[in-house]
Amino acid sequence: AQIKEVEFVKSSGRAKDCPRDARPEFAILGRSNVGKSSLINALVRKKEVALTSKRPGKTQLINHFLVNRSWYIVDLPGYGFAKASDAARMDWSAFTKGYFLNRDSLVAVLLLIDASVPPQKIDLDCANWIGRNNIPMTFVFTKCDKVKGGKGKRPDENIRDFQELIIQNYREHPPWIMTSSVTGLGRDNLLLHMSQLRNY
Ligand code: GTP
Ligand code: MG
Repeated sequence: AQIKEVEFVKSSGRAKDCPRDARPEFAILGRSNVGKSSLINALVRKKEVALTSKRPGKTQLINHFLVNRSWYIVDLPGYGFAKASDAARMDWSAFTKGYFLNRDSLVAVLLLIDASVPPQKIDLDCANWIGRNNIPMTFVFTKCDKVKGGKGKRPDENIRDFQELIIQNYREHPPWIMTSSVTGLGRDNLLLHMSQLRNY
């Protein structure tokens, strides 16, 4: 499950501009600032393959990265960016829904959930939308290294709370993995998981 080579292929503004070959791909989805681009960099062990920022809304297009010349990892714009205009938010859903519903080569969505904050309604809504559309999904909890001093729950407590809310809607809980792009936690597990999904 090792990554030997990663190559940025292209940025697409619309689903129909995405690469047309049928190589399997994984989409990285989640709230703005949850750590999507950082996770990609941690997976491929390169600092700036995917551009990151402290300010939400950094990634604006569908970015395809080709791994080992055989499968894609796709960095998507985040949802739930509070400062985005209504028009931009409408755009987000039209554009990403277009991608999800028409992408035959999609193996699974990695839905990133920030483990350093309590469950967010927008993440639950997103998970339920993906579930309703029968798109295979893995929960990737990010920022598991982040512990807030004093008040505030620990990452493992936030994860448990999120799962209790999710379980009501699924016969089987989707697979899930704890990660940190800072410490590298979960990296090898996630790569192994992705290789198993590709080989089904
Ligand atoms: P958009 O492109 O705006 O949707 O954001 P994104 O989801 O791609 O987030 P990005 O990777 O740019 O990271 C946002 C911020 O969170 C950056 O300041 C990162 O350094 C920080 N961050 C990302 N992953 C982790 C993590 O695992 N732990 C900690 N402590 N910080 C992280
Ligand atoms: Mg990003």
